[in-house]
Amino acid sequence: MTTKPVVRYALPADLQPDRLPQHVAVIMDGNGRWAKRRGLPRIMGHRRGVDTLKTLLRCCRDWGIRALTAYAFSTENWGRPIEEVDFLMALFERVLRQELMEMMAEDVRIRFVGNLAALPLSLQEEIELAVTETKDNQGINFTVATNYGGRQEIVQACRSLATQVQRGELKPEEITEDLFSQHLYTADSHDPDLLIRTSGEMRISNFLLWQLAYAEIYVTDTLWPDFDTSEFHHALLAYQQRDRRFGKLNS
Ligand code: FPP
Repeated sequence: MTTKPVVRYALPADLQPDRLPQHVAVIMDGNGRWAKRRGLPRIMGHRRGVDTLKTLLRCCRDWGIRALTAYAFSTENWGRPIEEVDFLMALFERVLRQELMEMMAEDVRIRFVGNLAALPLSLQEEIELAVTETKDNQGINFTVATNYGGRQEIVQACRSLATQVQRGELKPEEITEDLFSQHLYTADSHDPDLLIRTSGEMRISNFLLWQLAYAEIYVTDTLWPDFDTSEFHHALLAYQQRDRRFGKLNS
């Protein structure tokens, strides 16, 4: 039996370790275009996209970034051709099954955000298993947004709070930003500091609408399958040059 060599990414010398984002979010766009440019079916782009995501996750962990959230499937993505939707669902399931041992070995805690009840049952089971098995891992928090929509998340938080008010368990004036955050899928997690979107689109596409309020946004023309560690290094350099004021003035 051969054991795979463990790849470790060293933090580039020009990045300041104390000024790294704690949480990076990614919109992995451009898989279809990457495949089309090579005369390949779109699904090949998604396959390659998984490799890119795995490398980025390792790199984040090795460089000391505490959390990575990836937008894998939006509530709008159901509108794609059925063959592509089916392929993506099967891909998520297969990747989860294949990578579970590696996530354990690499101390990755995986979580999912989105309306998971609408996913195929076999995928829900695989998700449940991976989430439970990895729940005590502490190397990095990896969140996968699957059947996720930011507006839908906000509406479900409103419903949950309204139900508590209706039952007399909560007063409207007790609803604060903190309490509201606790009713989102991302309760208890730090908001992203940096959002990366590949393939040049200047939109957030219904991703983490509440949580991205103060995130720095980095858009690159690179297509997701080509987004390697050197591209990530560039994104972090750009992030470290930003002046994060959170609406205040500099002293
Ligand atoms: C966007 O590119 C990409 C997606 C909708 C799917 C992304 C999913 C993965 C990379 C798999 C992740 C797997 C796990 C288990 C987390 P696009 O199809 O919109 O590309 P285009 O804009 O060029 O058409």
